[in-house]
Amino acid sequence: MALKRTRELKPLSSEHHQALLVAFQLKKAIAGHAETAGAPRDLDGLLALARRYEDSVFRNHTSAEEELLGGFLSSDDMRRLLGEHAQMREFLERARSAPEGDRRGALLSFADLLERHVRWEERELFPRCEEQIGAEALASLGHELERRLVLAGRGATVHRA
Ligand SMILES: [Fe+2]
Repeated sequence: MALKRTRELKPLSSEHHQALLVAFQLKKAIAGHAETAGAPRDLDGLLALARRYEDSVFRNHTSAEEELLGGFLSSDDMRRLLGEHAQMREFLERARSAPEGDRRGALLSFADLLERHVRWEERELFPRCEEQIGAEALASLGHELERRLVLAGRGATVHRA
């Protein structure tokens, strides 16, 4: 996926690369592929991977999007953003609390939605933001993203088993 972003939205896009890798790892491991890009294959290992991603990247990333981009989005886009974030949280919760036989399915649902969601943001939502947000507001948005995502130094090694 080509991620051609204005400098201001880059902190979000670089975390999207990470999200796509985690989604790839979960999907391959759950499908039983030999090549999982370093992900564990056992359920506990996959739950730990998902938990690490949630704690070190996902939570902070989604609240930054909701709080910082939120004010610039149409009501349809905002509804989709919030709805998909909530649904992903729900899948993660279910992966931890469902009967053992349902946990892989919940992780797979999480991985599928994570991938679709990131592609929507990169292909549709962010281009709209870049077009519609004025230069000054975009600059201050960029500073705030830098502060909350980059300087906080999160998530550098989440994908390693
Ligand atoms: Fe995102």
